Amino acid sequence: MKIGAEADIIISEDRKFVFKRRIRKSYRDLKLDEQIRKLRTKKEVNLLELCREYKIPVPRVWLEDKFTLKSEFIDGENLDDFIREGNEDKIKRILGKCAFFIAKMHNNNVVHGDLTASNIIVYIEDKEEVPYFIDFGFGQKTYRVEEKAMDIHNFVKSFNATFPLLGECSCFFEGKYLENLESDEAKKIRNRLDKIRGRGRYLKK
Ligand SMILES: Nc1ncnc2c1ncn2[C@@H]1O[C@H](COP(=O)(O)OP(=O)(O)OP(=O)(O)O)[C@@H](O)[C@H]1O
Ligand SMILES: [Mg+2]
Repeated sequence: MKIGAEADIIISEDRKFVFKRRIRKSYRDLKLDEQIRKLRTKKEVNLLELCREYKIPVPRVWLEDKFTLKSEFIDGENLDDFIREGNEDKIKRILGKCAFFIAKMHNNNVVHGDLTASNIIVYIEDKEEVPYFIDFGFGQKTYRVEEKAMDIHNFVKSFNATFPLLGECSCFFEGKYLENLESDEAKKIRNRLDKIRGRGRYLKK
């Protein structure tokens, strides 16, 4: 059993399923705390089901009880570890696939909300590496450019912080993402990314 930031994660003994139970935060009012945990769990199920409909690789999910999400265990490796072990070709290959599916998510107006390499599991399917997306508790269904750009900003920022020597790979990722967006959106999101990055520079001063 691993203890996540907001949930207990339990893998079933037969390694077929993962149970993610959102735990009580004692600093929150009891009623409010229950509402938040219930809402995030339900939202996560809904968004994962939506992604599945859009043919984005995500585990199958079920609502086990109001605070517990049951999902199919994806027997792979976190993207972080995968990148640490890989050569540049391999890293670009997986990042290209991530970019393709994140663009697909955004084209369908699903925003992940916590896009980092530890929320992507690389699973080998018919000898091909497939990125599976998990952890949609902060996600939402939205048309807004700001939230989509923030997904990319956060992913690239955490990638560059973990892998400062792989800047070329994160540029490659961003390029592939923009390439796969529907045409109007690409320009808007690129502009918004520039703005967000400008904002960051301004705040640092
Ligand atoms: N369906 C799954 N298949 C395989 N591993 C999973 C699955 N769901 C969760 N995990 C593992 O458990 C970890 C935590 O799950 P998740 O990210 O959904 O919860 P979390 O509470 O947000 O945790 P964290 O704060 O660490 O991100 C993942 O990084 C992954 O290693
Ligand atoms: Mg997580």
